[in-house]
Amino acid sequence: MNALSLLKQDHDKAKEVIEQIESTGEGAVKRRGELFQGLVDDLTVHERIEEEIFYPALQKHPNAKDLVLEAYVEHGVVDTLLDEISTIDAGDEKWMPTFKVFKENLEHHIEEEEGELFKKTKSAFSTVQLEDLGAQMAALKEQAQQELMEEARKES
Ligand SMILES: [Fe+2]
Ligand SMILES: [Fe+2]
Repeated sequence: MNALSLLKQDHDKAKEVIEQIESTGEGAVKRRGELFQGLVDDLTVHERIEEEIFYPALQKHPNAKDLVLEAYVEHGVVDTLLDEISTIDAGDEKWMPTFKVFKENLEHHIEEEEGELFKKTKSAFSTVQLEDLGAQMAALKEQAQQELMEEARKES
């Protein structure tokens, strides 16, 4: 699969899960926690394929470098917010407001990626290169998902 289609698919899925989480009311605290854990796992895998394959490849192109460096920082902010939410009880009144701040940050990051960053990617790589990057990312995605499952198994 083309690298950009793969990333876009992940973004769309994250947005969908975020919407589901936002619609969980006070009576669905357990469901909220489960959905949130799934979102954290998905984003952990997504950030890995970007930081280990996509960003390093793109960073080699001088006119994309600054944007990529900004994207790393944005991942850091998103991760900090996810950590913070993880420390709050899903039924606590502070949970959803903190989640909303996370959502705004993630949406901003996705917008920048799909906008400027994807534009630069398309001008920096050929279709064949994008397919090749996509294949590498799909392979790492599968590996990272398996690693997460193994970790979860060990913890339970
Ligand atoms: Fe992304
Ligand atoms: Fe990203």
